[in-house]
Amino acid sequence: MSPHLAEFFDFLRFPSISTDSRHRDDVRRCGEFLANKCRSMGLGAELHETPGHPILVARSTPKPGRPTVLIYGHYDVQPVDPVSEWATPPFEPTLVGDKIYARGATDNKGQHFAHLLGVEETLKAHGDLPVNVIFLIEGEEEIGSPNLAPFLATHRDLLKSDVCAVSDTGMIGPGIPTMTYGLRGIACLEFKIHGPVRDLHSGVYGGAVPNPATMVSRIIASLHDDQGRIRIPGFYDRVVPLESWEREMWASLPDGDAATLEETGAPGLWGEAGYTSLERRWGRPTAEVNGIGGGYQGEGSKTVIGREAMAKLSFRLVPDQNPQEILELAAAHLQSVCPPSCRIEVELGHWGPAYVMDPHSPYGKAAQRALTRAFSGEPRLIREGGSIPIIQAIKDTLGVDSLLLGLALPDCQIHSPNENFTVTNFEAGIRLNQALLEELAG
Ligand code: BES
Ligand code: ZN
Repeated sequence: MSPHLAEFFDFLRFPSISTDSRHRDDVRRCGEFLANKCRSMGLGAELHETPGHPILVARSTPKPGRPTVLIYGHYDVQPVDPVSEWATPPFEPTLVGDKIYARGATDNKGQHFAHLLGVEETLKAHGDLPVNVIFLIEGEEEIGSPNLAPFLATHRDLLKSDVCAVSDTGMIGPGIPTMTYGLRGIACLEFKIHGPVRDLHSGVYGGAVPNPATMVSRIIASLHDDQGRIRIPGFYDRVVPLESWEREMWASLPDGDAATLEETGAPGLWGEAGYTSLERRWGRPTAEVNGIGGGYQGEGSKTVIGREAMAKLSFRLVPDQNPQEILELAAAHLQSVCPPSCRIEVELGHWGPAYVMDPHSPYGKAAQRALTRAFSGEPRLIREGGSIPIIQAIKDTLGVDSLLLGLALPDCQIHSPNENFTVTNFEAGIRLNQALLEELAG
């Protein structure tokens, strides 16, 4: 195994699950590993404490007269459950053919580690870089980056840069250079329905008292109409419609409906009428149930009316929806549809706005040239359905656009069992970093 790959495997072994407090020390150790890696390459690196997980800032010695490139990534990962559906242990990276299986392999350890190695290679070969580089790698992206936005505001000088580069998005297919010029935003909430004061016999009381699980289902059903449109009043008020050039460009990509069916294994498609799968995924807002619970979940049956039930929702947002406003509208809708026989409790969660940039700006064009060098052919220009909440904050606070040069393949299984990253893309990522820094210097 190459030294690069061996180091990458060591990085993947840290179970840096940011949402799970039992892994707090693992997240920190993972950050320390990365900081040490940066120091060994000759970068100045500091792990900054936050009320949550630490933020790594590592930089080359700044030289005047050259642009400064901020490279953002995250070393935290999503939980691994259901762990029984993994073919190999999630934190024991396993190479099968060209694929490295591990939680975080693609999202996002492999993608930003490739950038680090690109810088290491360039420094080894030339003793210098074509631009100044600052790595900003956080440990809380998967929980909405709660401490990074304030950190940006208090470290504006430290992070002063000309442009940001991020590999944390997808490619439309193997070897096809892909530049993402927009991301959906996100807004999360959780609600609980309280009914009777204790669990009840469903025969003795059923039919005469509200069943919280039924009410949660009815409330969830109220979120969409039969056309797949969201029924929360005001939800679409600020939505910027897709432009015709975008719809045409995406229509020229390989069939998104077929790809969506194939990638997901779903028996059929479902979504907002009047839009293709790619438009639904990249350019239209959604309301999703991410979790639902209530009543008896164990083996066999239990004739019970549970005293409470809950659901976790997230909304994916597009320009110019305001996440906080959407949360208020959603909470008001939930309150209004909850029947008086129950009590609803709504807890608002994390959020981040959508992002769009101009892919034809000078930096955007430089990024496209770098993609062509690392892969080959004209880059495809897409938006993505996923969210990277800090990207708009980087724009607002540091005043710079982010070049989203993703290396995630359609079958990389991020957030799912058997997440994987190809050695091919890991190596392409190293070349992409080198080409990008050269193109940005020019
Ligand atoms: N890398 C993803 C975002 C992503 C995935 C963008 C695929 C484009 C294509 C990122 O790590 C992620 O999962 N973000 C979360 C953010 C949330 C937890 C605040 C997401 O989108 O769910
Ligand atoms: Zn993720």
